[in-house]
Amino acid sequence: MKKSENILVAGASGQLGSAIIRKLIERHKNVIALVRPDSSYQHLSASGVEVRFGDLTDAESLKTVCQGIDVIIATANSVSPRQKGDNLIKVDILGYYNLIEAAKSANVQHFIYCSAISFGKLDDFVPISSAKRKVEKYLMRSGLNYTIFRPDAFMDISFAFLGTELPLQGAENATLDRPFKFSKGFFNGIRKNMEVKSEAGIIGTGQNKHSFICIDDVAAFHAIAVDLPEVKNSIMNLGGPEALSMLEVVQIFEKVLGKKLVVKHTPAVIMKLMSYVLKPFNPAASNIMALNYATAKTESHVIMEELTKQFGIRLTSAEEYLRLKSSTQKE
Ligand SMILES: NC(=O)c1ccc[n+]([C@@H]2O[C@H](COP(=O)([O-])OP(=O)(O)OC[C@H]3O[C@@H](n4cnc5c(N)ncnc54)[C@H](OP(=O)(O)O)[C@@H]3O)[C@@H](O)[C@H]2O)c1
Repeated sequence: MKKSENILVAGASGQLGSAIIRKLIERHKNVIALVRPDSSYQHLSASGVEVRFGDLTDAESLKTVCQGIDVIIATANSVSPRQKGDNLIKVDILGYYNLIEAAKSANVQHFIYCSAISFGKLDDFVPISSAKRKVEKYLMRSGLNYTIFRPDAFMDISFAFLGTELPLQGAENATLDRPFKFSKGFFNGIRKNMEVKSEAGIIGTGQNKHSFICIDDVAAFHAIAVDLPEVKNSIMNLGGPEALSMLEVVQIFEKVLGKKLVVKHTPAVIMKLMSYVLKPFNPAASNIMALNYATAKTESHVIMEELTKQFGIRLTSAEEYLRLKSSTQKE
């Protein structure tokens, strides 16, 4: 009988990492969580997951963590840095090079990397996007079997930034609640705008469309990829079932919440300016502003018919997602 594979999740204590672990457990997999000693990982231990301590910035720790591992799923990132010293160069570029090298030494059979959809020419302006492109290249040249997913914007994050905490209901270790002062402070200032003031905040005109996808669906693709040898050595965009503009998303919120919302626009160029201003003293905040600008200025329409058939996944629409979240809230 074939021994079951050991699957290491790097980024296990994050929102997507935790959702992937839930899906892997449902599929009866041997899951090992790579966490840092002070990560919030108690929910993982409680569900019987083996925990190994390591840090992407510590190459030696990764050698030990990767022993006996067959598959790595990597979602770790420092977009909302938690520890002093977490930054895009150390974690999202060099940290990933460390993990890929450790995977090679441990003879890992499959490396599944959560990248992100491209903003085209604006990838060079958005530090996390250029980091993702660098790691993709490094991984593709590593000799490891790889699967690279490039998800579009997450509903769980983008919809909450309209000014509502609805998407956080029922989320394990929500990214927006990570203790990064800048984004948490900003989010705390707007998190009840929709509920209390009936206001929705949009960056830019809100007319350009994106294939927003929910974290649970992104997690399902990562978990199922472990069992699909044909997705080795491929790179795939991931999106939800429909491309929507932010103005259309607001209309869906109105339907689900049963009330009219007043839309307040912030010009996208303000995000660009803030990205420049913040860069010298708060590069993480500057990256988030650049991400906001690029999302407001670009469009993405991911065709998912073939992939959903191949993976056996039914994608969640924005309306289904919000209805599910509102029923979670009432529990
Ligand atoms: N948000 C979007 O719209 C979007 C769109 C496309 C793709 N993505 C990608 O999707 C993924 C999102 O993951 P997520 O939601 O789980 O993120 P998250 O909630 O922000 O969690 C970040 C995770 O990375 C870990 N990490 C950070 N630095 C580390 C280090 N030095 N060593 C080991 N682990 C480290 C964190 O551990 P600690 O808890 O110890 O800090 C945490 O587990 C990212 O790769 C992101 O780029 C996001």
